[in-house]
Amino acid sequence: MIKNDLLLRALNNETVNRPPVWMMRQAGRFLPEFRNLRDKYDFFTRCRTPELAAEITLMPIRAIHTDAAILFSDILVVPQAMNIEVQMKEDVGPWLPNPVRSAKAVEQVIVPDIQETLGYVMDAIKLSKEMLNDEVPLIGFAGSPWTIFCYAVEGKGSKSYDVAKSFCFTQPEAAHALLQKITDTTILYLKEKVKAGVDAVQIFDSWGGMLSPEDYTTFSWNYIKQIVDALADETKVIVFAKGCWFAINDMAQSKVSALGVDWTCSPRNARYLSGGKITLQGNMDPARLLSPIPDIQKMVKQMIDAFGKDNYIVNLGHGILPSVPVDHAKAFVEAVKMYGS
Ligand code: CP3
Repeated sequence: MIKNDLLLRALNNETVNRPPVWMMRQAGRFLPEFRNLRDKYDFFTRCRTPELAAEITLMPIRAIHTDAAILFSDILVVPQAMNIEVQMKEDVGPWLPNPVRSAKAVEQVIVPDIQETLGYVMDAIKLSKEMLNDEVPLIGFAGSPWTIFCYAVEGKGSKSYDVAKSFCFTQPEAAHALLQKITDTTILYLKEKVKAGVDAVQIFDSWGGMLSPEDYTTFSWNYIKQIVDALADETKVIVFAKGCWFAINDMAQSKVSALGVDWTCSPRNARYLSGGKITLQGNMDPARLLSPIPDIQKMVKQMIDAFGKDNYIVNLGHGILPSVPVDHAKAFVEAVKMYGS
């Protein structure tokens, strides 16, 4: 039994005294303890060493007392396991030296044996669960097929993802074959994560909002939905599709347990689009954590009032920024815990 199971209760649509709170990208960047570790070990060493990954996973629980932990890892360990080389370059971010841009290149991409290639993630989950000692739930995650596809085809981050889009629009067969391989791998991967002990999973569709509503259905949602359908009987699935308010209505008809919302969609609009009942997660502008603490406290209260305390998970509208002072992040979490008292 998990002692603080608020997150699971919100995902189950149970009534709560206050909503749970966690922050996307809480395991890393903004914490000084994390930056110390970063000076000693490179990025993928931190991901591949269960002791380091588990230690980083627990850092925000110890430092700011969120109601859930998210495993320290990265969405890009999946393409790595699929035979696509991924490096993490200082000050550049992800760097894929051989981007996948032809039918022939798609053929080289494999649906791997998960234990063989990503067993280290499962070991990190087991160790994190042990160290959490059932204090709070542990969230596992994966990138959406479209978001992984963006990196696989572009070879790096991009402002427009025009190379990835052009691949979809000019070589749709090859593009769909790659999206399907990523989907099949992600389903196997998340099922293993559930077996290893995660209490819920989140799918990050960080670049879904780059697509038009119609293309979103074709190149992103149709694949996310396969993952949701495959996992829904085994665990709670949260889908965070940034910039995709236009898809909330369709997504709410699926077997998801919660939908993430970014700060460009008002709570009221998100409730309207989702039909009112489904659990929503979000959505403060991450840059708002740079505001003075009294403003953060006020905005948290307004946000909970607007979403409603039930069927709601307090979060940011995207990942926490590395520049956020720890006491501001702490104030955000504490303001949620004070709600209603
Ligand atoms: O939520 C958490 O804290 C768990 C850990 C986590 C990381 N990446 C660690 C990380 C999670 C959930 C991710 C997801 C991720 N990774 C996404 C989806 C969420 C989002 O922010 O949109 C994406 C698009 C990536 C790809 C990625 N990884 C980028 C673009 C970068 C470089 C920019 C950055 O975020 O600093 C990374 C590197 C990365 N992943 C870091 C961390 C802590 C920082 C690099 C480092 O520590 O050296």
